[in-house]
Amino acid sequence: GKTYDYLFKLLLIGDSGVGKTCVLFRFSEDHFNSTFISTIGIDFKIRTIDLDGKKVKLQIWYSEIHDQHCKKTLYFSAHHILLVLHLTFIRFFSQSNADFKHSQHASSDVEKMVLGNKCDMTEKRQVSKEQGERLAIEYGIKFMETSAKQSLNVEEAFFTLARSIKAKMDNKMVSGSDSPHSNMTTIHVKASVKKTGFFGRFCSIL
Ligand code: GTP
Repeated sequence: GKTYDYLFKLLLIGDSGVGKTCVLFRFSEDHFNSTFISTIGIDFKIRTIDLDGKKVKLQIWYSEIHDQHCKKTLYFSAHHILLVLHLTFIRFFSQSNADFKHSQHASSDVEKMVLGNKCDMTEKRQVSKEQGERLAIEYGIKFMETSAKQSLNVEEAFFTLARSIKAKMDNKMVSGSDSPHSNMTTIHVKASVKKTGFFGRFCSIL
């Protein structure tokens, strides 16, 4: 039978090196690997959490997205978005920002959150907590500072996001304005899927 009550698809995006892989490993395996882990070849990880007595299955995809078509497809799909930024790097206010603006066109069903990762690197940080918070307010999205290395706020971030997705869905069910299962899209991924590159595989299932 079904082992969960909800299935949420999350997408971790952000520039190379911000710590997407580490954040995901911390969350899914409570583990930090200080050596560089290449994202290539890994599609998603799953962790089921308990949220107010309900089993919530989080399917977390992650990628550094360059392909414009794929980017657009993702932003318009049912994936909720976790944008990972790096607090030690000035590009915080360039590309990632532009990408996120782009994602504002996505459906209002899509929940978004920004993680300011590597908050343990206090001496090197170039983005203040205030700047991060201001950005979040400007876009009306949640912002949390995390450290995958020190296991700070990673758990909290995923739970916060999952809780707001669930609240939104529960609200919808109550108001009956939409199908209660509209966000629980089944994903048709098989281990045997032909390896045509991450984006090829990803786009083909959307
Ligand atoms: P791509 O695979 O290129 O997209 O990068 P990524 O975003 O997945 O980054 P990754 O998780 O591989 O981390 C990049 C580097 O940052 C690694 O050397 C990690 O050890 C380091 N790193 C990740 N998270 C943290 C953190 O919270 N604190 C510190 N100090 N270093 C971190």
